[in-house]
Amino acid sequence: MMNKKLEVKNLRISFRTASGKVQAVRDISFDLYEGETLAIVGESGSGKSVTTRAIMGISALNAIVENGEIFYDGKDLLKFSEDDFQELRGNKIAMIFQDPMSSLNPIVKVGKQLTEAMLLKNRTRRKNGKKDFHRILINLRKAVKSSGADASGEFEKLVGKFVRAEKIGVRAESSYLLARKNAEEAAERIKELLVTYEKESETVIRSKCGAAYRYAAKCSDEFLPAYRTELFSGLVQKLKASAPCAETDLRELLGILEEGLAQPVPEFYCIGYYRAFSENAAAEKDAVKDIPAFNADARAFCKEFDETFGDAAGQGVRYAHEQSVLRKREALERLRAARAALEPEWDKAEVSKLTKELAALVQNCINPVETRKESAERTFGPCILSYCSRYFSGIRKNEKEKLRYDRQVKKRDAMLAKNKQIDWKVTPPSLTDLGAIRQNMFSAIDALISLYERQTSPDFCFDSEEETRGIVGCLKERASQTAVKVNKTSAKRRALRLLNEVGIPDAEKRYSQYPFQLSGGQRQRIVIAIALSADPDILICDEPTTALDVTIQAQILELINKVKRERNLSVIFITHDLGVVANIADRIAVMYAGKIVEYGTSEEIFYSPAHPYTWALLSSMPDLESSERLEAIPGTPPNMIYPPEGDAFAERNRYALEIDFKKQPPMFQITDTHYAATWLLHPLAPKVDIPASVTDRINRMKKEAEGESR
Ligand SMILES: Nc1ncnc2c1ncn2[C@@H]1O[C@H](COP(=O)(O)OP(=O)(O)OP(=O)(O)O)[C@@H](O)[C@H]1O
Ligand SMILES: [Mg+2]
Repeated sequence: MMNKKLEVKNLRISFRTASGKVQAVRDISFDLYEGETLAIVGESGSGKSVTTRAIMGISALNAIVENGEIFYDGKDLLKFSEDDFQELRGNKIAMIFQDPMSSLNPIVKVGKQLTEAMLLKNRTRRKNGKKDFHRILINLRKAVKSSGADASGEFEKLVGKFVRAEKIGVRAESSYLLARKNAEEAAERIKELLVTYEKESETVIRSKCGAAYRYAAKCSDEFLPAYRTELFSGLVQKLKASAPCAETDLRELLGILEEGLAQPVPEFYCIGYYRAFSENAAAEKDAVKDIPAFNADARAFCKEFDETFGDAAGQGVRYAHEQSVLRKREALERLRAARAALEPEWDKAEVSKLTKELAALVQNCINPVETRKESAERTFGPCILSYCSRYFSGIRKNEKEKLRYDRQVKKRDAMLAKNKQIDWKVTPPSLTDLGAIRQNMFSAIDALISLYERQTSPDFCFDSEEETRGIVGCLKERASQTAVKVNKTSAKRRALRLLNEVGIPDAEKRYSQYPFQLSGGQRQRIVIAIALSADPDILICDEPTTALDVTIQAQILELINKVKRERNLSVIFITHDLGVVANIADRIAVMYAGKIVEYGTSEEIFYSPAHPYTWALLSSMPDLESSERLEAIPGTPPNMIYPPEGDAFAERNRYALEIDFKKQPPMFQITDTHYAATWLLHPLAPKVDIPASVTDRINRMKKEAEGESR
């Protein structure tokens, strides 16, 4: 089973407007798997953008999220604060819009727009590293203290030493990383120059040597030992000299650089410890050893400390685990009792009290020093609290809604009885599904009960040494996260590399131009580069090619496909044109009037579509091979202030059954991966064949596909 990156469940979003409540997204659910492209296809106004904006936390101010969850990494995005979203948008989920100009600042040069994003993100990353380091350490100290194992205060002293070692290690790592980047850059430039050396004029060679010099002069670091030799600095000076550097010198310099870069990476934490506490360290500082030997010495020197630190920390870790198991055992009883007590009718005061109590209870069970975070436990509190408030406000709203509906019906009937003309329709009641909310509450409690049952069972395997190593590893990783500094120069280098990656020729020149000096396609490439600068896991593309010429469209699609493959991104691709996604989507969800009416693999949607709306989309797809005129889907989508009671597509559906006008069809399962919501799939429905215009289209597509594969 592939990993789920994102889970959207029962999402319902409406907008408050002057003329009423627009029900833009009506209970949609879908998953996004790691490394796949999911296309969401539907006509204008079907709710595609509203859905993706909710994922990004950029919904309009008049939006109301009426129901649902969006799970990412064990957390519900709908409960995120703006700060949380800032971080998420900066690092994990990126979005590309239809009009590139809307995401670019017209008066800021392209390069600056790219590097500013990088600098900002790096700052956040380093700040978070520091914050996490201290948070984890505080929890660990608390755990050791309450275990009673550190009556003499020995552990506190060890912590002091650990922090000191990390500090010195991080400083060394930081300067090493900077030097390494410069060395890589210098080596790359020299390599490039060597390829064309013989053909170049003196001036060109001198200028290219100058560029290499700027990097080579800044790449000396004690851990890149080759640089410290006199030979190296002599060669570097030759780069700067007035006569062009000879080819042999360049080769020698490149050799030294490459040798230095091929050295193993120093173990900075151990080195930090060695530096801080070994008497030999000061004396040795200038005498450069080879890195493996240095690593081994430093490791040997701090081995004893590591063991003592690990033992003491381990006592805290074990104690914290045992305590949390005890609390979970107690909580289990309470959860089971609560689950049973929740079965009959809900009383507002009681259920509110109960959910608050349970949320606090579970929050208190969380083991503060665990490294593996269980999402069922972490999201439990916020989820049940919101189910509870949604349930009771739902009751109120439903009552109001029913009254309004009855009033409207009465008014209409009265007017009809008097033979009066009416130019308005009765809005069907939009009711909150109370049963579904209760069900969600029960599932959350059940999931937690089974998690706690597992965790408190005597067979549950808890390896405290492994856990402790995990925590110490986490601390080291967070510390080292603060060592990676991006400055203006390195940001520029990365920006140029990104511009190359997204296929912008002449990156240097484009870097210092304004967005208006670029073509539409190039602008969209820049927007993609900015999105990629955060190294996201998920890329959301909202009609990224609609504003572009057909030929450019294909190139941008190809680019999105390429970066997706190379970076193993998960992509949500939104479009109103089914034709666009044929070659890029793994799965397709078809949306109509705020609902997903069909979803399946790309093959299933294209070759065995089941919903009449999908048929209509397929036959309105521009087709190069046929001379047929493009067949627009007749009619218009319903007004979403008054969504129809039955299937929203019924009015435009020439295969509509009577029931389609009365009752919404459920999702019928066709295969393990293919579902559609149409009454035509009901076992008692008359058999309707896919219209000939669609089957012809499918056959032509099949032939084309065969032709291509041959
Ligand atoms: N801020 C808002 N206030 C009121 N209604 C809104 C708002 N934003 C969106 N809507 C309505 O929600 C519905 C869905 O809009 P959405 O932008 O998701 O459509 P879409 O599928 O992305 O269409 P398109 O292909 O035109 O981009 C539309 O009926 C739209 O009018
Ligand atoms: Mg849109």
